[in-house]
Amino acid sequence: MRRVLYTTPDADPSRTVSVHDVEEPSCPEAGVLVAVEARPINPADLLLLTGRHVFTPTLPAPVGIEGAGRVLAAGPKSRLRVGDVVALPRGGTWAERLAYGDDEVLPLPPDVDIEQAAMLCVNPFTAVGLLEGLPEGATIALNAGTSAVSRLVLSIARRRGLRALAVVRDARAVDELLALGAAAAVVDGDDLAQRLQAAAGAPIQRGLDAVAGAASGRLFDAIAEGGDLIVYGLLSSSRVELPAANLVFRDVTVRGYSRLRCYAAMTPARRAEIGAELVALLRSGEAITPIAARYPLERAAEAIAHHERPGRQGKILLVSPPTPGAT
Ligand SMILES: NC(=O)c1ccc[n+]([C@@H]2O[C@H](COP(=O)([O-])OP(=O)(O)OC[C@H]3O[C@@H](n4cnc5c(N)ncnc54)[C@H](OP(=O)(O)O)[C@@H]3O)[C@@H](O)[C@H]2O)c1
Repeated sequence: MRRVLYTTPDADPSRTVSVHDVEEPSCPEAGVLVAVEARPINPADLLLLTGRHVFTPTLPAPVGIEGAGRVLAAGPKSRLRVGDVVALPRGGTWAERLAYGDDEVLPLPPDVDIEQAAMLCVNPFTAVGLLEGLPEGATIALNAGTSAVSRLVLSIARRRGLRALAVVRDARAVDELLALGAAAAVVDGDDLAQRLQAAAGAPIQRGLDAVAGAASGRLFDAIAEGGDLIVYGLLSSSRVELPAANLVFRDVTVRGYSRLRCYAAMTPARRAEIGAELVALLRSGEAITPIAARYPLERAAEAIAHHERPGRQGKILLVSPPTPGAT
């Protein structure tokens, strides 16, 4: 079977991967062999390929942190059946087939859109995690407003009665985010905190920062006393810059968020509960992640280059045709 491997360190991530013929994994006794049909390119994949992730793998290394497919074979002690649709939360998903224990996969209804299912375990779970602990009616602000995570946060926030203000780089995105449910959308800049506070008309209890660098400080300044700033991405910088005086004298907590860490700590029952909420959002059309393009695994390098192109609208998927015997 074919598998994409990270083989060569290079500043250009599209030159780091190549496709290899590798041995197919065997089906575990209490698990399944999955024919993977779709996997997205996520910013975290790029962090790995450009050496900016906390994980520094020994090369050659597998790539891909999520995906979805159908069960091709089930072990004698597995609760799953051949043909079941499963989302894959980890495990080098840029491969044709993968083996998992039953509790490692997220079983989904048979009619779920498999491409959307392939994007369920990272961004939607992150969106849910970033809103954890907020009371109904709370006001939050998030940067990288047009990202897939932010769009999901806006949809889930609206469902849960939270008010979310989006920060964007380009004013042309404002109307679209308002239509998605943002209470306000403002363009990032020097006086961001004042403009956000004026638009909020209520204390901003949480800031969600995917950008890092100086953008972290601009969002931090908008958060009310007693609130928190969650840094969950580093789109612009490997450093978080905060105004020291405000950090010292104001009561605003700063913390990180890792979906991988939170997902690993969840019971299978809690994962299934969140999975069901997310499938309901998919069915209602509120959590559809736009897809910019699809590439076969063999063209992974081209797909990565497309991912890095400015102005991309939506996710890039690596797709494989359905495997006979799993459908
Ligand atoms: N911590 C976790 O567990 C976790 C889990 C999932 C995702 N994440 C993080 O969440 C972030 C968003 O992920 P995603 O999959 O939603 O990404 P995405 O859909 O690819 O969107 C990223 C968007 O961010 C904006 N952006 C890019 N570079 C930027 C910069 N330098 N400054 C400000 N905005 C910039 C761009 O929008 P415009 O061009 O429209 O401005 C881009 O479309 C990433 O940092 C990712 O690593 C973290």
